[in-house]
Amino acid sequence: MSQPALTSNNLDAFWMPFTANRQFKKNPRLFVGAEGMYYKTADGRQVLDGTAGLWCCNAGHARPRITEAVQRQIAELDYAPAFQMGHPHAFELAARLSALMPSPLDHVFFTNSGSESVETALKMAIAYHRVRGEGSRTRLIGRERGYHGVNFGGISVGGIVANRKMFGTLLGGVDHIRHTHDLERNAFSRGQPDNGAEYAEELIRLVQLHDPSTIAAVIVEPVAGSTGVLIPPKGYLKRLREICDQHGILLIFDEVITGFGRLGSPFAVDHFGVVPDLVTTAKGITNGVIPMGAVFCSSDVHQAFMTGPEHLIEFFHGYTYSGHPVACAAALGTLDTYEEEGLLTRAAELEDYWADALHSLKGTRHVIDIRNIGLIGAIELEPMAGEPTKRAFTAFLNAYEAGVLIRTTGDIIALSPPLIIEKSEIDRLVDTLRTVLEALD
Ligand SMILES: Cc1ncc(COP(=O)(O)O)c(C=O)c1O
Repeated sequence: MSQPALTSNNLDAFWMPFTANRQFKKNPRLFVGAEGMYYKTADGRQVLDGTAGLWCCNAGHARPRITEAVQRQIAELDYAPAFQMGHPHAFELAARLSALMPSPLDHVFFTNSGSESVETALKMAIAYHRVRGEGSRTRLIGRERGYHGVNFGGISVGGIVANRKMFGTLLGGVDHIRHTHDLERNAFSRGQPDNGAEYAEELIRLVQLHDPSTIAAVIVEPVAGSTGVLIPPKGYLKRLREICDQHGILLIFDEVITGFGRLGSPFAVDHFGVVPDLVTTAKGITNGVIPMGAVFCSSDVHQAFMTGPEHLIEFFHGYTYSGHPVACAAALGTLDTYEEEGLLTRAAELEDYWADALHSLKGTRHVIDIRNIGLIGAIELEPMAGEPTKRAFTAFLNAYEAGVLIRTTGDIIALSPPLIIEKSEIDRLVDTLRTVLEALD
C-alpha cells in the first residue's frame, strides 16, 4: 500500500536496527500515533498492538500519569550528574523497585537499556568474586538461544547464532548450556512443559569441565523471549539455582521481558519461586516511554563491595544517564499506573482465556507448536522448504495489513500484548492470525 505522506521524506539515511532495510524502504510501515491498545499508521489505520511495542509498553500507550510525570520532570530538573551527585527521584525509585522484588534483591543499579543491564550484571558478578578474594572466578555461562542484548558481553553469553557470528571471537572464557526447546516431547504444552528439567544438569558437566573455581556466573532468561519464546520446563530453574548454590556460582536472571507483570506477577522471580543473585531489567520499567534499565542485586553482592576507605569509589562502572531524572519520573509514573490498575498481576487473571484462545489455533495451516505463559504466546510454523523465516515474515506483513501487530523471529510468531488487553481484543488478535495463516503459502 502506498503511503503518500512519506514521499517527501528521505528514508535512506536512517540505517534501521534489526530490520530488512531494503524491504522496509520499498514499502515503509510507519506509526505516527498510539493510544491504549492501538497504534495509528501514517496511512490513517488503527493497528492492534499484539507485542506491547517491543515487549515494553506493558500499560499500553499514551498513559496520562507517565506523560504528566515526564513533562513535569523536564521542566523541574532536566539532568543531574550521575556520578558523585544525585537527585531524589533516583533514590525514591530504587526504594520502590526494591520493595517490589523479593528479599534479598534489595539494591538497584540504573542503566539505560536491557543490553546495558546485562553488561552491568556480568561485570558486577566478576568483580564481586574479585573483591571477595576469588579473582579466579571469571568464566561466564550462558545458554544456547539466549538473548541478552547486543553488546559484546551480551552476545558472548547469548546464544543466537545470527547475532554472534559476524562479530569475531567475542569475550573469552564463556561457555553455554543447551537450550530447553524440545518439540518432540513438549509440543502444544500449556504453560510450563512437563519434560526437560534434566537439561539443567548440563551445568554440572560445564562445572566439571572448567572447575567451579573459574566460574563467576550463569545467566539465563527465565522465559527466553527473543529466540521465539521458550518456556522453562517444570523444575528446571530450581535445579539451576541448586547447582549454582552448590558451587558458589552467581545466578543471573535476565528479566528484561519477564519483568513488570508479563507473567502475572511483578517478576519471574516471584512466578517461579526461584531467587537469583542478580536480575536485569529494562523495557517495562518505564513502559517503554524513556530508555531505562535496572539491575537488582542481593544484599550479599552489594555488601561485598562496601568495604575499604569510604572516600573511594566502590564499583568503577556507570553511565552518564544512570538514573536520569526524566527516566526516573517516567518509571515512577509507570509504577503508579501498574499499581493503580493492578497490571502487575492482570496477566494471571487473563492467562486461561489467553491460553484457550491461542491453543484454538491448533490445526491451523502451518502450525507445528503453540506455547504460552502469562501474557506471552508463541506460534511456531513449519518453515518453507529452502526459505527459512519467509513464512513467518509474510505472516507479519499480512497481519499488519489486516490491522494487527505481531512479531516474528525465525519461523515463530511471538505475542506479548499490553497487559491492559481486553478479551474481545484477544479474540480479534487470534482470529486475525487464523485468517492470515490459513491464507499463507
Ligand atoms: C532478555 C533480554 N535481554 C536484553 C535485551 C536487550 O534490551 P535492549 O534492547 O533494551 O538493549 C532484551 C531485548 O529484547 C531482552 O529480551
